[in-house]
Amino acid sequence: MTGPDARTARLSPAEAPGAPGHHAATATDREVTVLRAAGIEKAYARGVWPVRHRVPVLRGVDVALAPGEVVGLVGENGSGKSTLMKILVGALAADAGTVTYSGRLGYCPQEPVVYERLTCDEHFELFGRAYGMTGEAERRSGRALYAALGFERYAGTRADQLSGGTLAKLNLALALLADPEVLMLDEPYAGFDFDTYLRFWELVAERRQSGRSVLIISHFVTDEERFDRIVQLRDGRTVPR
Ligand SMILES: Nc1ncnc2c1ncn2[C@@H]1O[C@H](COP(=O)(O)OP(=O)(O)OP(=O)(O)O)[C@@H](O)[C@H]1O
Ligand SMILES: [Mg+2]
Repeated sequence: MTGPDARTARLSPAEAPGAPGHHAATATDREVTVLRAAGIEKAYARGVWPVRHRVPVLRGVDVALAPGEVVGLVGENGSGKSTLMKILVGALAADAGTVTYSGRLGYCPQEPVVYERLTCDEHFELFGRAYGMTGEAERRSGRALYAALGFERYAGTRADQLSGGTLAKLNLALALLADPEVLMLDEPYAGFDFDTYLRFWELVAERRQSGRSVLIISHFVTDEERFDRIVQLRDGRTVPR
């Protein structure tokens, strides 16, 4: 996706155009969870008049994330994982339910959200500003992310000239740039080679250690032991696995 939506889609709900049902956590919520969603419902319109109808995708989803928790969200294709994550980050409005969060949310969408004519460095600069970071903090974080994901040699390359895997690294790095308390990743490692996949899990482990929370969507989970907990989306509801 490109265009003016690209930036706001990344921002935390506090900064993004307000989605109904989204609010900051109260002090008591904050002690137990960094993010809690309750009773999330969403239906999409299908077909054209006169056979237009609404197809329910989410039918009352409850999900919560504790500080330092790494949770996997699984489910078959079309089960509504991306829809749920968009609602959790405030990029899409739910039909019903509430999302309560504290701190900053970082979001890595399934389809990379970049500006094709900007280089990796320019993306860091742009997103750093959108996140309200100082130039120095943005450059320090950018350097660390280039090193952690191994793509510093593409710092001056335009997004439309990156390989699929490197684009996926940039997509992930932009979600991590401001060191968010809650990180939401929609199929982050689909395009990664094995070495990058292992580096990815090192980054996740570091976040867990520093009390940051991560929600990771995957349609198959090969390394179950890397997650603290896995929830499955089935028939529009979350069930433990
Ligand atoms: N903007 C939209 N308009 C209409 N229907 C939609 C829209 N977005 C998603 N859907 C439908 O909602 C359902 C859930 O889609 P979603 O992308 O959330 O699934 P998913 O679990 O992320 O799938 P995948 O594993 O393929 O990424 C699908 O049936 C999809 O066709
Ligand atoms: Mg999806």
